[in-house]
Amino acid sequence: MALVERDKVGGTCLHRGCVPAKEFLETASVMRTVSRAEVFGVSASSLSVDFATSQTRKQKVVDQLHRGLEGLLKGRGVTTFSGTGTLLAGRRVRVSASGSSQEIAGRHVVLAAGSLPRTIPGFDVDGRVVLTSDEVLSLDHLPASVAVIGGGAIGCEFASMFSDLGSKVTVLEALPTLLAACDADVVSVVARSFRKRGIAVHTGTSVRGHQPGSSGTRLEFGEDESVDVDAVVVSVGRRPATEGLVDGETGVKIDQAGFVDVDPWMRTGAEGVWAVGDLVATPQLAHVGFAEGILAVKGMLGEPVVPVDYSRVPWCIYSHPEVAFVGITEDAAREQGLDVVVQRDPFGGNSRARILDETDGLVKVVAERLPDGRAGRILGVHMVGPWVTEQLGQGYLAVNWEATPDEVAQFVQPHPTLSEAFGETVMALTGRGLHVG
Ligand code: NAI
Repeated sequence: MALVERDKVGGTCLHRGCVPAKEFLETASVMRTVSRAEVFGVSASSLSVDFATSQTRKQKVVDQLHRGLEGLLKGRGVTTFSGTGTLLAGRRVRVSASGSSQEIAGRHVVLAAGSLPRTIPGFDVDGRVVLTSDEVLSLDHLPASVAVIGGGAIGCEFASMFSDLGSKVTVLEALPTLLAACDADVVSVVARSFRKRGIAVHTGTSVRGHQPGSSGTRLEFGEDESVDVDAVVVSVGRRPATEGLVDGETGVKIDQAGFVDVDPWMRTGAEGVWAVGDLVATPQLAHVGFAEGILAVKGMLGEPVVPVDYSRVPWCIYSHPEVAFVGITEDAAREQGLDVVVQRDPFGGNSRARILDETDGLVKVVAERLPDGRAGRILGVHMVGPWVTEQLGQGYLAVNWEATPDEVAQFVQPHPTLSEAFGETVMALTGRGLHVG
């Protein structure tokens, strides 16, 4: 078993994405908790962030996980080749590293080269004023003011993090709302929280360009608006890293947007060559890439496999407030002509949320409407609020098992927990809610 890696094993998720971003968001969470300590009668006098220490801690967490991963690979007898891999015809792979190159061949080859941040014309990434997620995660100081271009998952996480750490933040989003893929009720809670914390959000706006000054830059947007900031974070999506990935007549097809064409079993057009993760046009989520990898390996082993149902994968956004969802949104259900019943349970009525003093948020369940008007299969679960990324599990299983509220409401929810809000919402859909419905 051979693995070809040009940088460090662990890729974007471990080194430049999920893990370091969530580590910094945890720093932001500590900051928020300490800033509200007095609510609990705890006095914490001076509040400040030593970003260099935060950066060192983040790197320690990443390095520990990296060492663990290297150990796992070694323990399983995987040989790691350092260099850039290029697929050639006949399932051969050229590994090039600083002037030298060698070829290896395999019975099966998996392409899993990931993605890179997209940029926009006029915004050359210099790592000082114009940054992508790659640069933000290795900053050694906290910019006093930041403009975030793109209000998707990365944009909202960084806006939330910088704001909690004390930066003045402006978000510029081209679409009419932040987090366009999320349920509208969820987006409203995030937008309200951002507003309350002083984050300036401009949606439905286009960025015209920027004029660098002696330290920061003047960002121009809309008709004639501008904002002076120390740093601009460009978070407008990610593109597949397929450049130079294949050479010659391999049979692997790459579409116009750069994604590798695969069938639902992750097979490319070349016999024995598979592609998974951000290289293929499926949700760019680490856990989706992981599920696709398992699918490919099972396929190689000739085991029966069920393709990933992309309409029912879990989504988690680690901004404050957190967002987590699975399945269809209420608006999408109605657009598709589905007859649905919807139930919301705000965290305001949840004991644990009151104890935490974190009552902003809700759980929302979308279920199909049965001919008698009652709720049938649960089609979507949408959460926003405290620790919802850790609470989605029940909703994920309910949607994927096509459970009905009557079935789920049988189960006992531990009390007091945040997660009982899901049970409460589902119970209300049976017509017997305790607080709502
Ligand atoms: P995204 O596709 O989620 O959001 C990009 C946003 O930028 C969109 O709302 C788009 O309308 C906006 N945009 C594009 N061009 C623009 C322009 N010129 N001016 C203003 N707005 C513009 O992409 P993002 O946030 O960069 O994330 C990349 C990928 O990584 C996504 O697939 C995302 O799902 C994934 N990701 C997932 C996370 C999670 O699950 N927690 C965290 C971070 C990223």
